[in-house]
Amino acid sequence: MCGIVGFIGKEQASPVVLRALTRLEYRGYDSAGVASIYDNEILLKKDVGKIAEVQGKYALDGLPGNIAIGHVRWATHGVVNVPNAHPHTDCEGKLAIVHNGIIENYQELRHQLEGEHHFVSETDTEVIGHLIESYMKNGDPLEKAVTATLGQLEGSYAMAVISVDDPGKIVAVRRSSPLVIGVGDGEYFVASDALSFLEKTNQVIFMEDDEMAVITDDGVMLYNKKGKQVKRKAVKVEWEWDQASKNGHDYFMLKEIIEGPEAIQSAATQDKKHVMDVAMNILRAKQVIIAACGSSRYAALIGRYLFSQLASKFCDVVMASEFQYFASSIDKHTVVIAVSQSGETLDVMEGVKLAKAKGAKIVSIVNVPGSSLARMSHKALYLNCGPEICVAATKSFISQLVIFYLLAFAMMNKLDQGVKKLKGLSVGINGSFAENSQSLMTLADKLYDQGNFYYIARGINFAMASEGALKLKELSYIHAEGMPAGELKHGTIALIEEGTPVVAICPNDETYHETISNAIETKARGAFIIGISDRYNEIYDEWIKVPEVEDIFYPLSVVLPLQLMAYYLAIRRGKDPDKPRNLAKSVTVK
Ligand code: M6R
Repeated sequence: MCGIVGFIGKEQASPVVLRALTRLEYRGYDSAGVASIYDNEILLKKDVGKIAEVQGKYALDGLPGNIAIGHVRWATHGVVNVPNAHPHTDCEGKLAIVHNGIIENYQELRHQLEGEHHFVSETDTEVIGHLIESYMKNGDPLEKAVTATLGQLEGSYAMAVISVDDPGKIVAVRRSSPLVIGVGDGEYFVASDALSFLEKTNQVIFMEDDEMAVITDDGVMLYNKKGKQVKRKAVKVEWEWDQASKNGHDYFMLKEIIEGPEAIQSAATQDKKHVMDVAMNILRAKQVIIAACGSSRYAALIGRYLFSQLASKFCDVVMASEFQYFASSIDKHTVVIAVSQSGETLDVMEGVKLAKAKGAKIVSIVNVPGSSLARMSHKALYLNCGPEICVAATKSFISQLVIFYLLAFAMMNKLDQGVKKLKGLSVGINGSFAENSQSLMTLADKLYDQGNFYYIARGINFAMASEGALKLKELSYIHAEGMPAGELKHGTIALIEEGTPVVAICPNDETYHETISNAIETKARGAFIIGISDRYNEIYDEWIKVPEVEDIFYPLSVVLPLQLMAYYLAIRRGKDPDKPRNLAKSVTVK
């Protein structure tokens, strides 16, 4: 994960880099730092903590110079401390480097370098700096030293390097970690994503794997692996900088939950021909596999029910991190649907690369325009929900569900009907938000010190139980499990004791009575039942009333209360829901 940024232009670079870094903080917030070149010196400030904390202590934006690089860290190699924070330097402090990714052979390289070089951190990144330093001793330009260094590295990287021995340029390279270039008027950015610099420019060059960019205030030169110049025009990214603001809310998460109903509308607004085309590809495929992680995988599990129930199309959902172990069954008759908000999740990308190499057709359901996954797919369907900043997926999850509904309706040749139904849902769902906020806040007051929550549901809503539990775990650090209601009695019910909260998602559909029976079994053992349902039942200790909808749409009816419950519990426990500990939004390591 980690976020990197570099800027070169006419104005002081560090304030620009700092501002861009605040937009990349979703990628990591263990530590932050900035380095600039000024008066033939590398000037560097870094510390542990979120950007605002580091800025408060060291005024990162006070570094002079019109060329600077910066970093927000999500620790992989080495604990969270100042030496491990980026940027890193060489022995003499003549160069600075920021890196996102993992150098797999760094230990070996470090052993080779240790005699001649002085290491101050435990990171894999520092090895790269020392290697570049060695090659710079030959008097080579920075890009040549970086190229020579790359020849020795195994693993993934997106990095940006500056050096006083070859000032006036940023050299940036990528392999399996995202990196884009922003082209402004006499000023240039390199960053982990375009959102970070959209305030300044929306003209973006997407770098491909094994490409190198040499960026000066005169322009950008792009080279491929063989050192041959590559010509690629910048394209316009449609997102707006303002979309990534809190809009008066305390946290991005609340703002993004509130945007959920609107996200239904935007995701349902698609090019119908394109959706039909993708749906037909899925319908005709001999084998369909959906690959995704986390919340995206739960959306996929719901998609699987929809494909089966509405279009009688069976498909399988595989955790992207396990995908490689199923590779032998993939061939050119397979359609792989890759679902990812960021479009940069490495587990998903690796699976897709593998499937593509075996001739499979790749369809992606993705939010970030121009992301690596979108560019790698044969066909992409965009979520259209705008930037999602909070680490927890909320509106993007809803949009993923909408895309699965569209595809299922398209497979039945009833796309128009599907679009109409989906768009009609957002009003009722919006109402349930307003109606439930107060009772969910009160509930959080009552339950915030509980150690375990269990979420149960049946059928298409089973994955909603898992999604509800995931939201609670990642935001409030309360242990939670979600499972099919019928599965409880096969073991987990042993954990129910007096007062244990059980969230029973029991819409008034064919699953109602059975789910209620399973909830009663837990109540008999002392559980505190939170019923998320459109139908009252006396066994609920707390009833969260949701809109009554057509059976297949219940996942959209119950989603907001689940998200809000996790949000209010996190707030009540004093946690920052936007930046949960140990997590990052874009998981670009294995
Ligand atoms: O960007 P992606 O959709 O590929 O991300 C997948 C997961 O990392 C993500 O959904 C994660 O589980 C979220 N933190 C859930 O809220």
